[in-house]
Amino acid sequence: MSAGVWVTGTRLILGIETSCDETAAAVVDSTQQIRSSVVRTQVKEHAPYGGIVPELAARAHDRNLQPVIRQALDEAGISDPAAQLDAVAVTNRPGLIGALLVGVSAAKTLAWLWGKPLIGVHHLQGHIHSARMAARIADEPPLPDQFVAMVVSGGHTAIYDVRAPLAVSRIGTTRDDAAGEAFDKVAALLGLDYPGGPSVQRAAAGGNPKAVRFPRSLKGDGSLDFSFSGIKTAVLYHVRGQDGVGGSRTREVAALPDICASFEEAVADVLTSKALDACERTGATCLAVVGGVAANARLRAVMAERTAARGVRLVVPPLRLCTDNAAMIAGMAFNQLVADDVADLSLDAIARAPI
Ligand code: KG4
Ligand code: ZN
Repeated sequence: MSAGVWVTGTRLILGIETSCDETAAAVVDSTQQIRSSVVRTQVKEHAPYGGIVPELAARAHDRNLQPVIRQALDEAGISDPAAQLDAVAVTNRPGLIGALLVGVSAAKTLAWLWGKPLIGVHHLQGHIHSARMAARIADEPPLPDQFVAMVVSGGHTAIYDVRAPLAVSRIGTTRDDAAGEAFDKVAALLGLDYPGGPSVQRAAAGGNPKAVRFPRSLKGDGSLDFSFSGIKTAVLYHVRGQDGVGGSRTREVAALPDICASFEEAVADVLTSKALDACERTGATCLAVVGGVAANARLRAVMAERTAARGVRLVVPPLRLCTDNAAMIAGMAFNQLVADDVADLSLDAIARAPI
């Protein structure tokens, strides 16, 4: 079936996401309503190692994907996929190659079996699209065609100039660690549980965000780039009571909630400053903050306050759309379907694919 057939009526797409450590499937309709969204996390499998083990991720996807797809179809009331579905979409790039391959193989098999178009979705396009879905869910006006999207996740931290769903260009990126990676590494060095983002946020409760002045790397340097390796090292030195490399113990070490709150404050400050710089540079009046780190409460608060002061509309998806999910993949796929951006059974999984 070609995309040209897809014109009227409410259509349904099954989305599949296995690029990292969440096995997810969802059914979304052409009005962007989420009919079902099932996410099975692998946090327990990877927790003993303090990070994602690619081989374990692929094996867990392999075990879990079939029941997750079945549940997503059941919850959406789809008993006859060949008759009721209009396409099968899958994250095919970027991500862990073994993990991606599990999803791509399953999607190819189902698309072939049911005689449906197959759509390969870029994971970050999915994250960006989650902002459009968030506006729809919250019954807010649709996002304008042009907006700035900041993707902050465990593997990516970048700013995009969005002009249309398929016209996206990167205007800033991290030069080293992703923001989520910084949360995960800081959590590990503070002895907090993996994944680090939620643990640091919990530990920061009641802490003083001004207790320690952690560095705001590259803030105000005129670029839209980030660097998070310095702040991670600064937290390490602080915990050791050192002033710098090889320094002696010269300082009082702040209490854990103060360290965590100060770390969050520094990260939120840099992310917000760069996002607002990007809006100014591109002339955008709407900012979307997406990806796992967008779940951070302090980041949300700082973003809300400073975008309001500048008259910029802020859209941050609800938590379940911020972290990896398949609803954003199925939702994004509609944009590709109308543009006839449909794959065939030669669709590849691609580990590295910058937008
Ligand atoms: O988007 P995501 O689910 O997966 C990737 O595509 O990477 O993002 C996962 C990242 C992890 O680094 C996790 O620590 C971080 O998002 N994260 C948070 C919070 N919840 C998840 N970071 C800060 N605060 C949170 N509440
Ligand atoms: Zn992601």
